[in-house]
Amino acid sequence: MSSTDKVFAGSIPKIYDEYLVPMIFAVYADDIARRVAARSPSALLEIAAGTGAVTRAVAAALPRGVRYVATDLNEPMLAVAAQRQADDDRISWRQADAMALPFGNAEFDVACCQFGAMFFPDRVKAYGEVKRVLKPDGPFIFNVWDRIEDNVLTHEATVALGRMFPDDPPRFMIRTPHGYYDKAVIRTDLERAGFRDISIETRPEISRAPSAEHVAIALCQGTPLRSEIEARDASKLQAATDLVAEALRTRHGSGTVDGKIQAIVIEARA
Ligand SMILES: C[S@@+](CC[C@H](N)C(=O)[O-])C[C@H]1O[C@@H](n2cnc3c(N)ncnc32)[C@H](O)[C@@H]1O
Repeated sequence: MSSTDKVFAGSIPKIYDEYLVPMIFAVYADDIARRVAARSPSALLEIAAGTGAVTRAVAAALPRGVRYVATDLNEPMLAVAAQRQADDDRISWRQADAMALPFGNAEFDVACCQFGAMFFPDRVKAYGEVKRVLKPDGPFIFNVWDRIEDNVLTHEATVALGRMFPDDPPRFMIRTPHGYYDKAVIRTDLERAGFRDISIETRPEISRAPSAEHVAIALCQGTPLRSEIEARDASKLQAATDLVAEALRTRHGSGTVDGKIQAIVIEARA
């Protein structure tokens, strides 16, 4: 993993929340919220909460009196999350690295995490932390992206950017968000951390965006792909965004853009 892969800061959080969340994250947030609500937690931990896509969906599905701690490595992501969330005394926001959770043993009865595990440098260690802070038998519910070829718009954008930087194509999307999808590896990592009763399912959906330009801004400017483009040539961020938009328009037309997305959803018991 490159050092910028985990940095969601600067202009990224706001663009991420405005462009990317409705495009690909909201639909899976509703799925996580359904699964969490079905467990009726009284103390819930969210890891890698980002700008709060899952937090908003889960908060809407849970009764009063719940303790809900939403955490993320990057404060700027949580700042957007807190700003977007209506006043809610059930929720507290806390900066936290999944690899070293700042909580006591067995504090939570459910833990959830949406599209965060791919960013953890040592997943067995992070899962071990989740197990430690969960009560015995507590469920851990999370998802990861499937391979990039099953996430069509991101794949097409990555191919287009490769044409702009042929000697050193930006590979953030392949390396990190779409780099942890082998179900056998996920299962083994969880087992090594002490989880059991592991269920793993593939979940395809359709992402929809108002235009090719919207998709290009979301991916090139609202994710750490931005830092990878800027590291090659900071003056080319807009040109790279335009190139991706053009490639998507050629394939999907100038109106709304649809594309298959696919995630892997995992439930395990501490
Ligand atoms: C793709 S975003 C997902 C955010 C949110 N769950 C959502 O569905 O929109 C990945 C998130 O992982 C966070 N992250 C990266 N490394 C982390 C770590 N070691 N511990 C906790 N969060 C981390 C990032 O700050 C970012 O907010």
